[in-house]
Amino acid sequence: MSRITLHLGDITTDGEADVLVNAANSGLLGGGGVDGAIHRAAGPEILPECRAHGGCPTGEVRVTSAGRLPARFIVHAVGPIWHGGERGEPELLASCFERAIAAAAERGGRRVALPAISTGIYRYPLERAAHVALTATARALARHPEVVEARFWLFDERAHATFARVRDDLGLQ
Ligand code: APR
Repeated sequence: MSRITLHLGDITTDGEADVLVNAANSGLLGGGGVDGAIHRAAGPEILPECRAHGGCPTGEVRVTSAGRLPARFIVHAVGPIWHGGERGEPELLASCFERAIAAAAERGGRRVALPAISTGIYRYPLERAAHVALTATARALARHPEVVEARFWLFDERAHATFARVRDDLGLQ
């Protein structure tokens, strides 16, 4: 039975995940937030691969190697910018997590580290995002049991507490 675990801190410090998910933008060439941290830690060697993808639409994912990070590869997911919730934001956010887990499974990934996509610069409300992220991830894990663990990295206490509460409310393990 796959599990969802919650971790407080910087996703780039995860030494157990073989797949790292990034909260990218559609240009795929790096940015601030978790994207900046992952690109810094992976090093410039992943940039040509990012460039070769030629961008990525919102709600989709693209895979590159992990450069200097200990993971085997990075799944770059482009979350939606929050515009109030009526522009397909929940479906696009769910799609990021579902496709990220599917991409990991296709390549033999077993432990996947994930950030709270869209909850920073893209301003998706945290509690709603936690609900979408955890529901979509649980659904994807059920479809891909070869992925044994989804490891959510929450950057501060508030995000960690919110994900913990929503995970309990949903009855997920
Ligand atoms: N590890 C884990 N989580 C982190 C880290 C980190 N090193 N740095 C930031 N976060 C958290 C933020 O606190 C937030 O909860 O990740 C969540 C997502 O925030 P952002 O990184 O701002 O991502 P997002 O909201 O999806 O916005 C994407 O930001 O960096 C740019 O290129 C990126 O344009 C894109 C946009």
